[in-house]
Amino acid sequence: MTGFPACPTFPSTRMRRNRSADWLRRMVQENRLTTDDLIWPIFVVEGLGKREAVSSMPGVERLSVDLLAEEVGKAQELGIPAVAVFPYTPEGLKTPDGSEALNPDNLVCRGVREIKKHVSNMGVLCDVALDPYNSDGHDGLVKDGEILNDETVDILCQQSVVQADAGCDVIAPSDMMDGRIGSIRKVLDDAGHQNVTIMAYAAKYASAFYGPFRDAVGSGGVLMGDKKTYQMDPGNGDEAIREVALDIAEGADMVMVKPGLPYMDIIHRVKNEFGVPTFAYNVSGEYAMLRAAAQNGWLDYPAAMMEMLTGFKRAGADGILTYAARDAAKILKSG
Ligand code: PBG
Repeated sequence: MTGFPACPTFPSTRMRRNRSADWLRRMVQENRLTTDDLIWPIFVVEGLGKREAVSSMPGVERLSVDLLAEEVGKAQELGIPAVAVFPYTPEGLKTPDGSEALNPDNLVCRGVREIKKHVSNMGVLCDVALDPYNSDGHDGLVKDGEILNDETVDILCQQSVVQADAGCDVIAPSDMMDGRIGSIRKVLDDAGHQNVTIMAYAAKYASAFYGPFRDAVGSGGVLMGDKKTYQMDPGNGDEAIREVALDIAEGADMVMVKPGLPYMDIIHRVKNEFGVPTFAYNVSGEYAMLRAAAQNGWLDYPAAMMEMLTGFKRAGADGILTYAARDAAKILKSG
């Protein structure tokens, strides 16, 4: 035989017994993805009746505002509880101070109002950061090459109120400036938006996986890695715990880890340590990888995608922002 000592529990213990039939596998399954776990990010573009394919994200389109109600309505019929709205801001509206972020009639605000007007019981989440509006492509104000913290926070507070006024339910600061959650909470409360929820992009890493997103929102000017003075170093884990602790102390209702796949350990630690609603952002590059491999015939997209999303649940995520939300919801619906 092998020369190894006999397994003391074998043959009485056979792990394969619980895997032997479909009904049994279903019965002992520990973690299960449901449609309630999905948040669908949408890109909005100027125009009428416009659908623009995002070339680096097969299956993802930018939609004009007039198409939002129908598409979001369909997502709601699939059971998706919330969407996240991102703008493709026309170049002419981008300025060094990102002032379009504060325009109550900017793309995001019009998109939010349109969704709220036509689709009931659908959560709407908005990013708070300057990158879609800033001609530098950075999440904050830039002065002499430095990303200013406190001056940026002041603008983000105003941006939050503008978006909440438009009807946004969940304010999601994605900028990684220090102290912004506490300031935004206070300003929202003072403006009468006590019930607007804050989902903090609490542990957001300076990642190469955002590439296709910057293409989708047209903020491609900033090179990968340029955001290292505010987004986190991929090598750090304890620092993520400190970031999350601060955001919770400042008033975050929910926290997010971003990206998702390379940071499963962080999702797990955050959920274990704090027990607060914890979300994973399955970012553009993670989606693009699967789609690209599938287009080459190297991966089975539906199977790999469902496995990936289940992995987030197993890691401890309560929900997932994913471009695959509708694909997953359709699969879940059809059983
Ligand atoms: C901007 C923002 C980014 C994403 C969400 N909000 C990009 C960045 O920080 O450069 C990325 C999402 C994705 O890649 O899917 N604050």
